[in-house]
Amino acid sequence: MTIQQIQLVKDSWALVRTIEPEIVANAFYNKLFTDHPSVRAMFPSDMKEQYRKLMTMLNVVIVNLHRLDSLAVDIAQLARRHKEYGAQPAHFTAVGAALLWTLESGLGASWTEPVKEAWVTCYTIISNAMIEAMQEEPQLV
Ligand code: HEM
Repeated sequence: MTIQQIQLVKDSWALVRTIEPEIVANAFYNKLFTDHPSVRAMFPSDMKEQYRKLMTMLNVVIVNLHRLDSLAVDIAQLARRHKEYGAQPAHFTAVGAALLWTLESGLGASWTEPVKEAWVTCYTIISNAMIEAMQEEPQLV
């Protein structure tokens, strides 16, 4: 990501953060589960904890965008947990589409082409890192 793209993601995320976090997370999961109903069964019936975890994780990633390398271990561990949840590479497209839709809905006129490109780049980097880590053999040590 370029420095400008990192800034665009941070600034637009700050705008999204002015909306009640539960509303943002709710919009995201509603979109994901409406477009991909089969994914719903992978998640707990009570989504309250999930909302908090998702927003916390996004905050951590976005705060550290300028030094994503420092998150490599966390991302690999997150990926291994996702393997246990049953996540498959194809699911990342679905999750990415729901995320972009949520951001577009929340940002309105601030969802510009450069902002969109910055988020697509950001999500692609993180999801590729997760998919790669999911495909690695489990470590013995
Ligand atoms: C960049 C992409 C993603 C990020 C940053 C992300 C982040 C998270 C976080 C932070 C959690 C909380 C639990 C934990 O830390 O292990 C979680 C749980 C979960 N995620 Fe993801 N996720 C991503 C993609 C996906 C995809 C593609 C799927 C597939 C449908 C998925 C399905 C799940 C499920 C099923 C849970 C566990 C729910 C539970 O039993 O509590 N996630 N995710």
